[in-house]
Amino acid sequence: MVYQIYPRSFQDSTGSGEGDLGGITSRLDYLWRLGIDVIWLSPVYASPMIDNGYDISNYEEINPLFGTMDDFLELLESAHRKGIKILMDLVVNHTSDKHPWFIESRSSRDNPKSDWYIWKDAYNGGPPNAMGSVFSGSAWQYDEARGQYYLHFFAIQQPDLNWDNPEVRHAVYSMMKRWFDRGVDGFRMDVINMISKFPGAVTADGGNGAPMCNGPMAHEYIREMNREVLSHYDIMTVGETPGVTTEEARKYAASDGSELNMVFQFEHMDLDNGGLGKWTPGRCRLTDLKTVLGKWQTELYGAAWNSLYWNNHDQSRVVSRFGDDSNENARVRSAKMLAACLHLMQGTPYIYQGEELGMTNAPLMSLSDCRDVEIFNAWRELVEEKKLLSPEQFMDAVRKRGRDNARTPMQWDSSVNGGFSSGTPWIGVNPNFTTINAASQADDPGSVFAFYQKLIRLRKTYPVIVHGDYEPLFESDERVFAYRRRYEGVALLVMCNFSGTPVSDPDFSGLNLSTGRLLLTNYSEREITDTKLLPWETRALLFQ
Ligand code: GLC
Repeated sequence: MVYQIYPRSFQDSTGSGEGDLGGITSRLDYLWRLGIDVIWLSPVYASPMIDNGYDISNYEEINPLFGTMDDFLELLESAHRKGIKILMDLVVNHTSDKHPWFIESRSSRDNPKSDWYIWKDAYNGGPPNAMGSVFSGSAWQYDEARGQYYLHFFAIQQPDLNWDNPEVRHAVYSMMKRWFDRGVDGFRMDVINMISKFPGAVTADGGNGAPMCNGPMAHEYIREMNREVLSHYDIMTVGETPGVTTEEARKYAASDGSELNMVFQFEHMDLDNGGLGKWTPGRCRLTDLKTVLGKWQTELYGAAWNSLYWNNHDQSRVVSRFGDDSNENARVRSAKMLAACLHLMQGTPYIYQGEELGMTNAPLMSLSDCRDVEIFNAWRELVEEKKLLSPEQFMDAVRKRGRDNARTPMQWDSSVNGGFSSGTPWIGVNPNFTTINAASQADDPGSVFAFYQKLIRLRKTYPVIVHGDYEPLFESDERVFAYRRRYEGVALLVMCNFSGTPVSDPDFSGLNLSTGRLLLTNYSEREITDTKLLPWETRALLFQ
C-alpha cells in the first residue's frame, strides 16, 4: 500500500506556509494508523520550483524550503522504525535549467557537457521542428549563447537530458546509487518512458515531430539501469509511463524483473478528455472505464504487475470527478465506493494525500487562485493566443481537471488553515476543511478514513485480493461496475453502483448473493438487499 505525499502541501512545521520534511515526520503516526507500507515522496531536491520540484537543480541536495539533509535522514529513519518505506521521485527525463549540468552545457558548443542535453540548429530561422511541449507552445527554446535550440518536453525551464549519451546515463546511475546508499527504498520514476527520443522528434528538418513516449531505446536504457543499479538493491520501482499500452507495460513491468516493478498507465485518466484534452473535459462513460480497467487487469495477469490509482498530484480529486461531491452523504458514499472499486482489483494501490478523507476539488475561481505552470501556460496559449476557449470555459476546465485541485493543503483539522500551517499557505486551503478533515474522521468508524483502513486490512488478509484473476460482470451496464476474482477455490465478488440512484435492472439473481459472506459495504447491513444496489453502493462478498 503506497501513500503519496506532495511535500509542499502536506504539513508545514515552521509557519512558512510551505509544507516541509519536519511536518511529514510529525505525521507518521497518522500514516501508520492508516496502515500503509510505503510513502512515495514527490521531489524534495533543490529546485527553483517552476514545476514544484519536478525541475531539479541539484540531485544531491534537499530543497531548503523543505529542510536539510538531516531532516530527510530523520524522516527516513523514523519511517523505517515504523516499518514504513520511502520512495523518492526520480526526475531524470529533464533537469532544471539551473542545474550545473545545463549551465555548463549551454555555455558553449564544445564544453565537456555540450552533448548532455538535446541541442539542434535552427531550421529556416525557426525551431528545428514542430514538436510541441506538454506545457503548451514549442518544445524547442532558442539559446543565445549557443545560437541553438534545446529540447524541453515540459516547461522551458526543464531541458531534456540526452539519454543517448552514455555519460548522462552513468551520471544518473551513480546518483541513484548514492540515494540507495543513504537508505531510500526505491523510486517512482517521472515520465520514464520519455527518455528515449524518436529520431523524428529531434531532427532539425522542419518536420512535424514524432510521439514523445516509448522511443526506440526506452526498454534498453531501463534494462541497463536495472542491471547497473536496481538489481543490486532490495528496492521497489514504479515508472510513470504516459501513453503506455498493455503490450509495452508487459515489458516495462515484466514479472521477470528485468525492468521495473510496475508502471502507472494513463488510459483511465484520459477517458473524460475532449478535443483539447483536459481543457475541454467531457463525461466518461462507465462502460469505457470498465473496459479500460478490465483490460489492464486481464492483459497483465501473470505477465506483469499493475499499479492502481485514481489520484495523484497531477489529477483532479476522484470523488469530484467520478463520484458526487455535491452533498455530504453522496460525497462519503461515493468516495468509499470508488476506493473499493479500485482497491479490490489486482495491483499495488496508491493513495494520494487526502484521498483517504474524500477531499474534493478546489473552488478555483480565477487564475489568481492557481499556482500551476501547466495552467498558466495553457491559458496563454488557448485563451490569449489562439482564442480557442473563453476565460470562463478555461476556468471551468481548470475546476474540473486542473492539477491545483490536488495540490491544496492537506486538511488535518478544523483550526486555522485546516491545521496545515500557522503562516499563509502557498496555495489556498479548500474552505471545506471545516467539515472534511482528518481529525473528524480518524476515530469515526463510518468515515472514509476508516473505510480505507478496512480496505488495507482486507488486502492483507485475503490472498484472493492480491492474486485472484479478474472476470468482468454486466459489461454493458452504464451504472454498475462489477467483477469477480478467483483464487484457490475462493471467489470475491465486487459490486459498485456508479450512480446516485438505486439500480435493480441488471439481474443479480444469478450471482447467488445470499450464499456469500459480506466483507465490505458502505451502507449498514440491514439496508442492503439481494435485488438492488443503493445509490453509490459498493459491496464485496466472499464465496468459499
Ligand atoms: C510528471 C509529473 C508532473 C510533472 C511532469 C514533468 O508528469 O508527475 O507533475 O509536471 O512529469 O516533470
